[in-house]
Amino acid sequence: MVKSLRGMNDILTPESERFLYFIENACKIAKNYGYEYIETPLLEETSLFKRSVGESSDIVGKEMYQFTDKGGNDVCLRPEGTAGVVRAFIEKKFDKAGGVKRFYYHGAMFRYERPQKGRLREFHQFGVESFGVQSVKEDATVILMLKDILDFFKIDYELELNSLGCKECMPDYRKKLIEFLDKNSENICEDCKRRRETNPIRVLDCKNPKCQEIYKNAPLLSDNLCITCNEDFSKLKKILDDFNVKYKINPKLVRGLDYYNKTAFEFISTKIGAQSAIAGGGRYDRLVEFLDGKPTFGIGFAMGIERLLELIKMPENTRVGYYIGALCEEALDLSFQIAQNLRKEHKTIVSYEKKSLKNHLKQADKQNIKYCICIGEDELKQDKIWIKNLETKEENLLDTSEFLGE
Ligand code: HAM
Repeated sequence: MVKSLRGMNDILTPESERFLYFIENACKIAKNYGYEYIETPLLEETSLFKRSVGESSDIVGKEMYQFTDKGGNDVCLRPEGTAGVVRAFIEKKFDKAGGVKRFYYHGAMFRYERPQKGRLREFHQFGVESFGVQSVKEDATVILMLKDILDFFKIDYELELNSLGCKECMPDYRKKLIEFLDKNSENICEDCKRRRETNPIRVLDCKNPKCQEIYKNAPLLSDNLCITCNEDFSKLKKILDDFNVKYKINPKLVRGLDYYNKTAFEFISTKIGAQSAIAGGGRYDRLVEFLDGKPTFGIGFAMGIERLLELIKMPENTRVGYYIGALCEEALDLSFQIAQNLRKEHKTIVSYEKKSLKNHLKQADKQNIKYCICIGEDELKQDKIWIKNLETKEENLLDTSEFLGE
């Protein structure tokens, strides 16, 4: 028997109901914030992710579904959505046009990780990317939008916040951190030694407890921000305070992707086990430039839909639609015809076989239908249909032509 690949899941009811419910409402909220829908390809040139997510990241270093296509191109399945949106933004020359552009998207992402609860190889993200806004109000707005989405689904969260500095303050901090790493080079893990060469700040979120003990004494980003970064970070915190958004400053939050600067954030749930990050994002003011576009400010986030699914409750299920059942062979064609008519406007299920009244009612009830219509010999003779409202239990005999006319 052929099975789905490890870490790649089918999503069926009732989960798929919650999946759609999430997408529909998250999209609605993004539209309210002025975002436009964008769809980008699942497959991109590998170099796009190497140059954006970064070669020092685990995503690019270890987890890409990368292969050579039949035309000899080095391609890979997208591990995240930001890089593709930035590529499209530049390709469509929005960078040259200037102005502000805001996009939202959702879809499958692929990372060859070790699967466990909440960690998949194919997973789905809902994300937004905003281009062209320097104001820290945009950082606040993006965080408020994420909070609005989580609030809509009544999902509790903890928000962790950090500032990663900018091209003014980051180089000096980097130097200090490298000096610190060199003093401790004998005691840090091999991964951190590699990170020292590629992207030193990534050492700060190393999972190795021995390294974490050492980094307790490492210079902190927050103590080394320039005046502008400091001011912007204070403004952001003030807006979040004004809107009653609770957050915790985590000076070691650096995120697993290399493109961030200034604001970085993560939303955590304490109710879903070890893979607790339900969303993450931040500013990436140099990414457009790194991908050969005209320098453009950028900020965004992505939410992991699978991790959210178990936290989402559907609204109370109300009965909807029609079920049509024939009680004799002769009524089968009429049932089919009525169903096709109703389907233009209503959810309608029709049985292709004659069954007893009790059996039809049971089927309708099981599928949470509101109206059960049954047609037997008596109804055919009188040109009527028998209809029961399964909510109020009210039963009626209606004129078939009148019912169809309505
Ligand atoms: P990320 O933190 O790598 O950021 O992923 C965002 C979210 O996707 C995570 O918080 C998590 O909920 C979910 N996720 C990540 N990996 C997996 C996995 N293997 N299985 C299940 N869920 C997963 C980004 O992807 C950035 N592109 C976010 C962003 C947008 N930054 C700026 N704009």
